[in-house]
Amino acid sequence: MRPDLDVAATLECEPELLPYLPEILQDFDELGSDPRRLIECLEGECVADDIRHALDLCCGKGATSIALAKRFGMRIDGIDAIEAFLESARAAAVDAGVDELCRFTTGDLCAFVTRPGSYDLVIFGSVGPILGGITKTVTHLMTPLRNGGWLLIDDSVLLPGAPVRPGFEAHTQLEETRRRVEMSGAEIVAMHSSGSDALGHDSDMQRIVRRAAHLVERRPDLAALVARYVERQRGECSFLEQWTRDVTWLLRKPPT
Ligand SMILES: C[S@@+](CC[C@H](N)C(=O)[O-])C[C@H]1O[C@@H](n2cnc3c(N)ncnc32)[C@H](O)[C@@H]1O
Repeated sequence: MRPDLDVAATLECEPELLPYLPEILQDFDELGSDPRRLIECLEGECVADDIRHALDLCCGKGATSIALAKRFGMRIDGIDAIEAFLESARAAAVDAGVDELCRFTTGDLCAFVTRPGSYDLVIFGSVGPILGGITKTVTHLMTPLRNGGWLLIDDSVLLPGAPVRPGFEAHTQLEETRRRVEMSGAEIVAMHSSGSDALGHDSDMQRIVRRAAHLVERRPDLAALVARYVERQRGECSFLEQWTRDVTWLLRKPPT
């Protein structure tokens, strides 16, 4: 098993580029999920009062953890493989005045989904299928939860006619995804969805292209690696816009 391959896969890059990714992504706080949608999902079902301690797995720069801590006052442990992202998360938590509530630690996702825990909420935002298909993913993510605990998963589903694309082989259309989530034994409490995953990709690409160009200026030897990353990001953005929509699932682990 190569953990760097997993991490690189979630960030759509080659493992050799990983050390430079924090530099290329320095203009982004959110690396996938829109924290507002996750907050709306919890507010819509009035479950926040039942949550004191949450675990944000693959938290990136902590945008979701920080937003939830600020909105609901819950304690959150954020785990990610990339220390540079966590440094940004710690600084952002201080700026937002929630550093007492948020604890960001380097770690591997696998260690947390194999050890039973007592968290009230687990968050899995825009990480994709690194734990397997959605049934397996939900089953794994219930492990660190107490009985009756909550699970927020933010991911995309395919639109009808979507072509096969590397990285999306495990994704399915909405109804099939719902059926597969149900197979895990978790209760589907709510499902919030955006019309399409098309917001903001143009400006995101501009920021990536600018930082990539700066990196290549400094490190011409990385030009080919960086160019492949930028091209892949373009392809990814246009696929997401055309063929997917974002879905946030609020699930509940059975109470007994
Ligand atoms: C697309 S980003 C999403 C970050 C965050 N959840 C968000 O929505 O802003 C995926 C994150 O997963 C992390 N990651 C990937 N594999 C991991 C693993 N095995 N253990 C811990 N973190 C991992 C990456 O470092 C990256 O920060």
